[in-house]
Amino acid sequence: MASHAANLMQKAYERMIQSKKTVFEDPNRLHYHLMPPVGLLNDPNGLIFFEGKYHVFFQWNPFKTEHGAKFWGHYVSEDFIHWELAPIALAPDAWFDKDGCYSGSAIVNDGKLYLFYTGNVKGVNGNRESYQCLAVSEDGITFEKKGPVIEVEEGYTAHFRDPKVFEQGDAWYMVIGAQTNDEKGCVVLYSSNNLLDWSFEGKIAGNGMNGLDDFGFMWECPDLFSLANKDVLVVSPQGLESEGILYNNIYQSGYFVGNMDFQTKRFNHGAFTEIDRGFDFYAPQTFEVNGRRILIGWMGNATEDNIPQPTEKYDWVHALTLPRELELKDNKLYQQPIRELENLRENEVHYNQVELNHNSAVELEDVRGSVFELEVSISELSDGLLTIEIGDAGRFVYDAKHALFSFERIGLHGKKEIRTCAIADLETIRLFKDTSSMECFLNHGEEVFSSRVFAPEEQQVRFHAEGTAIVHVKKWNLKQF
Ligand code: FRU
Repeated sequence: MASHAANLMQKAYERMIQSKKTVFEDPNRLHYHLMPPVGLLNDPNGLIFFEGKYHVFFQWNPFKTEHGAKFWGHYVSEDFIHWELAPIALAPDAWFDKDGCYSGSAIVNDGKLYLFYTGNVKGVNGNRESYQCLAVSEDGITFEKKGPVIEVEEGYTAHFRDPKVFEQGDAWYMVIGAQTNDEKGCVVLYSSNNLLDWSFEGKIAGNGMNGLDDFGFMWECPDLFSLANKDVLVVSPQGLESEGILYNNIYQSGYFVGNMDFQTKRFNHGAFTEIDRGFDFYAPQTFEVNGRRILIGWMGNATEDNIPQPTEKYDWVHALTLPRELELKDNKLYQQPIRELENLRENEVHYNQVELNHNSAVELEDVRGSVFELEVSISELSDGLLTIEIGDAGRFVYDAKHALFSFERIGLHGKKEIRTCAIADLETIRLFKDTSSMECFLNHGEEVFSSRVFAPEEQQVRFHAEGTAIVHVKKWNLKQF
């Protein structure tokens, strides 16, 4: 078995070496985001701070720009800015994970790093099996698989995956994304005293709980944590129908705020809210570092139409979002780019009191680029539209009268597509543009839009108002790695 693992890893490294030149020739390659060295990346996994370093693992198919038998790739950083690719953490080489080391989480116990992940196994006739598995590391770099610790519970299908483990009081807990036999999505809870023996504590959300009878056919990647004396359940349900401006991507990620009672094992919670309003965001995970709750998402999503992304010609696809620090205010999550990202800034340009009106679009010298951060503060805005166009990469439009903010881009099918959210009193817009991505934070994280945009050339920013507006603009180039 060990030699099978070595073989698989060897093949993945060979593929990395073969494709390196092609991958790095891609003008859409990002400069300050985590990407696969080659192949396909999806969910962030096992986020953890261990022995002075941040570890970000990721779902990885090194062999193709398609989904397949996933490895756990691994990046390490000391400052959240400079990342190093570490050796492959997990390869799908064992009977219990041969068709994929699927998503999971990390915790530190007794000075060791424990990874919990789902072993995906496709049997004959396409039957799926899944096992929640453990792998342990002393140095945070090489992992020893300990095998399955949980099998699928009765009453649930084999869509039973993505264990997130956390400590609460004097016990360990694990949430798992699940599907009941009648194909309803939900989250189940387990507890343990030793991380090896786990007791099933039942369903805590979805499928009939808290009035959610029919809310998707499968819930992926649950994450339960406390923030500001509340409990927050982040989850990625599949199968929600779109409703006006809500749920317009193929799958959604969102959260419930409530109270988790670890005595009765009941989670009372409020309504589901989408975390991100852009086109490309899914399967986020959080971790805690020195009291900060940090979230990273997959800046991608399953594609409905199977149109290849431009990067696939260069042998890679998808990326992770920037890390965001979470805050909970009035039962709402606020997400701000982590402050470490300010270390990327250089060449500040600053324009005060820029007056906009309906006559013509305003272009400001040096407020252009391919890899930059833009901060727009609005000091006056009449009831019209404020538009910020990022050249060919897309445009942001605020409709002050109807309190709606939209992002428009030209999709891969060549047609305009749009995502919208409701937001009153827009005061600030903070945009992170990398060659082929944009992440836009409104009002210090009240809403966020994350999207890929394949316009890697320099883009001129243009401001326009229907009615009148006064804005202050700051722009920085961001260091490119
Ligand atoms: C979410 C997901 C997880 C699964 C993983 C497989 O994107 O489908 O549920 O563990 O991706 O790569």
